[in-house]
Amino acid sequence: MSVLPSIIRVLNGDVLDPPPIWIMRQAGRYLPEYRAVRKTAGSFLELCYEPDLATEVTLQPIRRFDFDAAILFSDILVIPDALGQSVRFEEGIGPVLDPVDLAKLDALRTEGIVEHLQPVLETVRRVRADLPRDKALLGFCGAPWTVATYMIAGQGTPDQAPARLAAYEAPDRFEALIEILIGASTDYLIAQLEAGADAVQIFDTWAGILDDEGFGRWAIDPVRRIIAGVRKVVPDAKIIAFAKGAGSRLGTYARQTGANGVGVDWTVPVAEASAMLPANIASQGNLDPMRLIAGGEALDAGVDSILAATVGRPHIFNLGHGITPDTPIANVERLIGRIRG
Ligand code: CP3
Repeated sequence: MSVLPSIIRVLNGDVLDPPPIWIMRQAGRYLPEYRAVRKTAGSFLELCYEPDLATEVTLQPIRRFDFDAAILFSDILVIPDALGQSVRFEEGIGPVLDPVDLAKLDALRTEGIVEHLQPVLETVRRVRADLPRDKALLGFCGAPWTVATYMIAGQGTPDQAPARLAAYEAPDRFEALIEILIGASTDYLIAQLEAGADAVQIFDTWAGILDDEGFGRWAIDPVRRIIAGVRKVVPDAKIIAFAKGAGSRLGTYARQTGANGVGVDWTVPVAEASAMLPANIASQGNLDPMRLIAGGEALDAGVDSILAATVGRPHIFNLGHGITPDTPIANVERLIGRIRG
């Protein structure tokens, strides 16, 4: 008998009580066992490309917390790396890339993306083999807009001004970069699903900074095309799209992208998200990560209000964005206890 992981049931539109749980960035620096493995790897990218180590850190949060899903340990910036752009991660700074020149997109290598990412696909195969059948393995990629913001600025910025400006000043060239990212991301997600991922998430961390026209053109349309492209090859692919900051545009985003579920950040009242979303499209979120650091009453009250507002709809419990390194482990345990009763 096949055991369908709870998260996949919710992405099919089933309502589960209590909802399944995973946490964005659940494998990471708040875990001492992650920090120990991180020390043994050379660079962060080497950790992503070393299947033994990446499999281990993917499984660590499942062993410790019994989450309902594992998320592949990798990063959204392996795509620029595969395209031949120089990518490194610096302690205390974050990602550092040699900024891409939109006039010289020919310099990017658009062939052999999936081959370059074989070590990550090997991690997918190993995790799926080691993970209990009732737990989902989530693959992921960055959405073209968010990946482009890092490719253009060469680093994180507070407001992604360089990419926003480039999209206005050179829309055709910017579009050409987005096209490259749509193609690479589609192939990469297909390969992850074929290697054993049960569902995939597309992270658009910077979608909310776009104006209305930009949101349609750079956030909705590329993700819609990736989802359609993946389903051409994997017809029943389960896909979660997370446009952080979508706000009142969340309903349109869900309908037009064709995702099975959408991430909801903590600034959107869940009751309003529920009202905006078609009944069969799952919501996922949306506890403020700061409540998880604070713990106690702030944590309990935040959890309870999300549970109350999502009764009767397909919902996956998560944070409204990634867990941060300073989060106490005891608070994660308390969160899970509160949700599962
Ligand atoms: O546990 C998981 O969720 C799986 C692994 C994962 C990582 N990054 C590992 C990581 C996932 C899904 C991501 C996604 C990601 N990466 C996003 C989208 C989601 C989000 O959080 O907004 C973005 C924008 C990136 C790019 C990125 N990677 C940045 C900006 C940084 C530096 C900031 C930071 O947290 O340090 C990273 C580095 C990174 N990616 C780390 C981890 C565990 C920390 C680096 C380290 O451990 O040395």
